[in-house]
Amino acid sequence: MTATFCEYKPGLENIPATKSSISHVNGQEGILEYRGIRIEELASKSSFLETAYLLIWDSLPSAIQLKEFETDILYHRRIKYRIRDMMKCFPETGHPMDALQTSAAALGLFYSRRALDDPEYIRKAVVRILAKIPTMVAAFHQMRRGNDAIQPNDDLDYATNFLYMLTERKPHPIAARIFDVCLMLHAEHTINASTFSAMVTASTLTDPYAVIASAVGTLAGPLHGGANEEVLLMLEEIGSKDNVLPYIENRIANKQKIMGFGHRVYKVKDPRAAILQQLAEQLFEETGHDPYYDIALELEKVVEGKLGAKGIYANVDFYSGLVYRKLGIPADLFTPIFAIARVAGWLAHWKEQLAVNRIFRPTQVYTGDHNKPYVSIKERT
Ligand code: SDX
Repeated sequence: MTATFCEYKPGLENIPATKSSISHVNGQEGILEYRGIRIEELASKSSFLETAYLLIWDSLPSAIQLKEFETDILYHRRIKYRIRDMMKCFPETGHPMDALQTSAAALGLFYSRRALDDPEYIRKAVVRILAKIPTMVAAFHQMRRGNDAIQPNDDLDYATNFLYMLTERKPHPIAARIFDVCLMLHAEHTINASTFSAMVTASTLTDPYAVIASAVGTLAGPLHGGANEEVLLMLEEIGSKDNVLPYIENRIANKQKIMGFGHRVYKVKDPRAAILQQLAEQLFEETGHDPYYDIALELEKVVEGKLGAKGIYANVDFYSGLVYRKLGIPADLFTPIFAIARVAGWLAHWKEQLAVNRIFRPTQVYTGDHNKPYVSIKERT
């Protein structure tokens, strides 16, 4: 079969890598839909687990289906003691994303049976991964502080339980609800880098734990999921509203990217950023103002003024860190929390890939030499 040669596009920009019905982004109008439902609707009316069910099984669950799903996940929240023992050997200074990638891959050691054509195997893997990833994130955080992991509390819902395992305190219901909405906002976003990584790994028919480990490693990068942590460091470095303009002018003059801005698809403000901004303001009303929010508002205004014409606006990572910080979450856990949410999207694409699988194997534009002679080491200069 003769290959139809399409033009090489760096970063595969605008090149479709699959056909998918899981989510849709309209980058010109700032629209995000999960299985056809607008993110604003889900953020105000749904829950993270209901949204995860929708993404993975392509329908909103009935009340019975949702209860069964929530109960199944609650039952699988605990992790093997050997994984906890392994995590106790991790250096306290290690980044939580490296700890998560390692422990996610380790799950595959305990659930190594691969039966990708068995719907019950798929369902069980979905439940185990959704249930155990938050426990692993919270466990490493406790251990790096010299504590034992806090066991999941079966009386608490998904979001409340995570914050409890992280802080040993039951959060205010408003804080738990805001955190649950943050998880929904970060759950899925078409073929982003970490989802593409998950799809490529899935296409080799390896186990789902290896798929998730691949995706976690990809999400960790500062150009992708790691930007939320960088945004807070940037706000702290700027320190005051007066410093915003000189800081931004300096970054632009040095052709340095401004964290939390720009997007391969959105050329207007990311709709998730707008919702996260509302959540931040709601939190500040309840728990007191955050002066960094004033710096963030000034920064967004200055960047829009200077780069808006290039389609560079605030993305999902710009305000998320301010919300998480107000919830008492350390900055280096912002990206692991992004992973807790995006696991739903990665699993949805894993299932979708398996249904019509063909191993990913792109081609290249070769720029090297041909027929070069081998030069013996004696003759090399
Ligand atoms: C996420 O794909 C997804 O959907 C990702 C995500 C998801 O939910 O999965 O939405 C999550 O990753 C959000 C993005 C988080 N990353 C950041 O905030 C890091 C900063 N942003 C940039 O690195 C950048 O905007 C990207 C990586 C997000 C997108 O980069 P592109 O599409 O590859 O754009 P580019 O690097 O080719 O830049 C095009 C132009 C360049 O200027 P010129 O050389 O043409 O003059 O825009 C400029 C860039 O310099 N530009 C920026 C900028 N982003 C792009 N300039 C300053 N600051 C920025 N943030």
